[in-house]
Amino acid sequence: MNVKQNKTFAAYVIAAAIISAFAIKPVEAKEADPIGPKLTPRLKQMLSEEMLSVKQASKQILDGLIVGDHSLVATQAQQIHDSFILARALTEQDKKDLTKAAPPEFLALDGQFHVTAKKLSEAALHKDYELQRFYYSRLVDSCQTCHTQFATDKFPAFSGAQPEGHSH
Ligand code: HEC
Repeated sequence: MNVKQNKTFAAYVIAAAIISAFAIKPVEAKEADPIGPKLTPRLKQMLSEEMLSVKQASKQILDGLIVGDHSLVATQAQQIHDSFILARALTEQDKKDLTKAAPPEFLALDGQFHVTAKKLSEAALHKDYELQRFYYSRLVDSCQTCHTQFATDKFPAFSGAQPEGHSH
């Protein structure tokens, strides 16, 4: 009986966790605070420079995709991969400052972004243009997803925006 009660209790806890995850998570995810104001000036400057070069590289990638210039796509995607803020040499202090300012969700998105750029670059090296399109669209997804969650101060047009498939 005891075992059964425990099981029931465990089931209840799990169910409650699932329900609250559904009830709370989406709201939290969409209304996370902008991260810019929490960064040290040095990190903010690095992030901003990085974003501008990422934007430049993304445009170049699009140019490459349109004309089938695989090596342009490969180089620019590799550059996004290599130069992204978390991939380059941050000082120990920067790393501390970053983990203090950035929630795990931000770091996870950053990681995914990083991996997608690498995969795009590999697809280009294999001259697989269909896969390049796939990863390019993922790359654009990452920009929007992260900006909606963490850069609504910079991009107010994203405030209150709903990702597709969620109409409340
Ligand atoms: C992991 C999160 C994340 C991802 C992924 C991301 N960004 Fe950003 N981006 C930010 C944040 C945060 C800011 C605001 C920084 C600030 O407050 O200055 C920003 C700002 C920018 C800016 C404005 C920079 C400035 O200082 O004017 C540009 C342009 C930009 N991002 C382009 C992109 C593009 C293009 C992609 C995808 C290819 C992308 N970002 C992916 C987090 C992200």
